[in-house]
Amino acid sequence: MQSAADKQDAGLSTVAEASRQRGFYLETYGCQMNLADSELIQGVLEKAGYRPVADPLDAGVVLLNTCAIREHAEQRVAQRVRALISASRNSRVRIGLAGCMAQHHREKLLAAIPGLDFVVGPDGYRGLGELLNAEGGFAQLRLDRDETYADISPVRGEGTRAWLTIMRGCNRFCAFCVVPYVRGRERSLPAPVLLNELRSIAEQGYKEVVLLGQTVNAYEHDGVDFAALLRMSSTVDGIERLRFTSPHPADMSARDIEAMADCDKVMPQLHLPLQSGSDRVLKAMDRGHDMEQYLRLVDQVRAAVPDIALSTDIIVGFPGEGESDFEATSAVMDEVGFDHAYMFKYSRRERTRAENIEETVSEEEKSARLSRLIDEQQVRAGAINERMLGQLTQVLADSPAKKQAGWLAGKNRQYKTVVFDPHGATVGELVDVKIEATGPHTLRGQRVA
Ligand code: 5AD
Ligand code: SF4
Repeated sequence: MQSAADKQDAGLSTVAEASRQRGFYLETYGCQMNLADSELIQGVLEKAGYRPVADPLDAGVVLLNTCAIREHAEQRVAQRVRALISASRNSRVRIGLAGCMAQHHREKLLAAIPGLDFVVGPDGYRGLGELLNAEGGFAQLRLDRDETYADISPVRGEGTRAWLTIMRGCNRFCAFCVVPYVRGRERSLPAPVLLNELRSIAEQGYKEVVLLGQTVNAYEHDGVDFAALLRMSSTVDGIERLRFTSPHPADMSARDIEAMADCDKVMPQLHLPLQSGSDRVLKAMDRGHDMEQYLRLVDQVRAAVPDIALSTDIIVGFPGEGESDFEATSAVMDEVGFDHAYMFKYSRRERTRAENIEETVSEEEKSARLSRLIDEQQVRAGAINERMLGQLTQVLADSPAKKQAGWLAGKNRQYKTVVFDPHGATVGELVDVKIEATGPHTLRGQRVA
């Protein structure tokens, strides 16, 4: 039997409990698109009366926005969500998975992870507030070829750089990739909506904007293509720098390259996923271009924007990748001279075209190939960056440096990290830095007035 005092406590704690139920905790995994989607989720939840909390133990709703691109990404999330479930002391907390992994494994996750209350896919965020206002669990997994969230304002984090989603989904169906299955078909946002959003981003004080899309240069809406959108975006006052990621090589038009060259605000930096340097493997991957086309594109881009920095994505160990295919990848990376590369071991994904292609490269061999490419890239990036010694480079100061008190860190025009002695400059300023030391990942120097 409850005593009167207990009852009163229960009454008080009901108020605290109700407030706690409105707190949400959100953790993000994976690519920039997911970071931008989390800002969207935050916008949806705040509009529905929820507020962000920093500690999952204080939250009524715990949400992980997940990635499905490789098995390893999913394993990490599965571990994390199990830990959060067993740590939660609040019996009424609702724990859910959002994003690509949720869409990939669907309702199966609710059975596989006891204590998981809901799953919501990349096109299901609009109704999240109402779904959470009702009691109980749910699965919101409908893909919607028209959903662009054009009318929903994301809540962006503080900083100098904002991310803006201009298109969602992918129509390319590369053989290894789960994205088209979990994010659905390509769709672009109207240019006027994007320009409004850019103006609001500028008013909020951001200096740099990264335009986002799974195949960002496939952007097309009402006759506005990616090149036209770049030119329009360049006219927005207050935005000093524009970048975009990730373009697909086969979608890169001469118009896109001209726009990059013509617009001073479009930074000399391009992430151009290659995946493999072997025509045989590119074909098996269904990438839609061969090596000759890729190298021609690199030449065209470099002719138009001579100081451009190039980065890429590489997959080693795709089924059928032989020693000579791998050597070709290594050689092409050398020939192009990428400033940066993200390199991965092939991870077989359910539902993709490559799912049923028998794997031919052992885990050991994949690891050996990956570490060789990483070592080679480290040396290459070191040599490329060394050429910056003694040079001036323009940096947007983003934050205090992590390791050096009083110094700042930021990105230069080529998106390289620069750590520098600011001599009075503050975060948010565009400054010139003279480079005094270089490494494969960072440049260091002094701001010059
Ligand atoms: N295995 C390994 N890497 C993959 N990527 C996409 N799918 C896979 C997969 N199944 C890589 C590609 C892509 C990047 C975002 O992730 O290199 O460009
Ligand atoms: Fe995946 Fe290929 Fe689409 Fe990129 S272009 S998201 S790798 S299917």
